Amino acid sequence: MVIRSVLHCAAVKIAIVPGDGIGVDVTKEALKVLEAVERRRPFGFEPVSFPWSADHYLKTGETVPAGAFEDFSRNYAAIFMGAFGDPRVPDMKHAADILLGARFQLDLYVNYRPVRCLDDRICPLKGFGAADVDFVVFRENTEGSYVGAGGIFKKGTADEVALQEDISTRKGVERIIRHAFEFARARGRKRVVMSDKSNAMRFVGDLWQRCFALVAKEFPDIEASHLFIDALCMQMVKDPRQFGVIVTNNMFGDIATDLGAALQGGLGMAASGNLHPGRVSMFEPVHGSAPKYAGTGKANPFGAILTAALMLEHLGRAGEAAAVERAVGQCVAAKLCTQDIGGSLSTGQAGNAVVERLDL
Ligand code: NAD
Ligand code: IPM
Ligand code: MN
Repeated sequence: MVIRSVLHCAAVKIAIVPGDGIGVDVTKEALKVLEAVERRRPFGFEPVSFPWSADHYLKTGETVPAGAFEDFSRNYAAIFMGAFGDPRVPDMKHAADILLGARFQLDLYVNYRPVRCLDDRICPLKGFGAADVDFVVFRENTEGSYVGAGGIFKKGTADEVALQEDISTRKGVERIIRHAFEFARARGRKRVVMSDKSNAMRFVGDLWQRCFALVAKEFPDIEASHLFIDALCMQMVKDPRQFGVIVTNNMFGDIATDLGAALQGGLGMAASGNLHPGRVSMFEPVHGSAPKYAGTGKANPFGAILTAALMLEHLGRAGEAAAVERAVGQCVAAKLCTQDIGGSLSTGQAGNAVVERLDL
């Protein structure tokens, strides 16, 4: 091992935060696959695990220690997270500090959520196949209604008032839209659709509309169009072939990508990256902690494994990432998968099946 790392590569330290519920189960499988990649094509993979979770919070009162994100940005190549959410922490305080904390404090403004179906068998749309579901959603990840601006006044009285502000900044909107166009150009995608609710939410909508028109002018080779978010959701189901790149705000992106996950075969199949180009980035499956499946062996690990593939690609290991995706695709096709997508394997067995099919 020592000789290997001296000869081949410097350490690629990855912070691993499995979190809660099935986050723990699926992260184990993603790690299994990353370790298999490391054995066959060493890239210096050095996972370092962190216990931050509802359990840890309830036991110690700590969500994330001070300085942790600075440590990540200085000393780690990337971060991998499982999922957060536990009925014992109804206000999601720990998730706000860990998950949203990472997104906000590391300024991970690009939430990259590919919507790709890997096999006809799990495509839920009548008359469509896997090849018809292949687009990318860019979700703004640092603003909108997620910033936590607001409050409750006269709480518990009949005069109670709750406020939740939706904040969009010129800088924030422009940079996510520009990222979407740059991605489209780099990947040969012909069309960027911006989606908002500017017919009802005039102020932020107006800013998004103007920024979109402005940035689109820099990319005359890419077709720029617009759909209101309700219409976007309807069109995603009606004919997903029309989409290449979608860009939208934090909240609408969250909702649209659960719908996107359904087009991929279910929440267990969807991967995501939280990126700030040139800085340390964080990777996590789209799904949550699904408490009912925690520790039962029923959780589908493929979303987490595909997330590991996104991370490999981000680390400059495109060949390895493609091999992981191919292996997952083969497993889905052969029904070597969990029950949610028509198989009968446990979480661990599904992870093993991917490792066995890794062609590296
Ligand atoms: P969820 O994504 O956890 O689960 C919804 C349903 O989708 C599950 O009941 C299950 O039927 C299915 N599902 C999800 N992931 C699956 C997988 N890997 N394999 C098989 N089936 C899977 O969403 P929820 O039930 O709305 O939320 C549960 C908790 O997770 C809540 O506390 C919520 O806030 C949190 N959450 C966290 C994240 C995150 O950490 N990124 C994302 C979404 C929800
Ligand atoms: C997601 C999740 C989170 C979000 C929750 C847990 C705050 O749903 O990553 O999609 O809304 O961003
Ligand atoms: Mn979500």
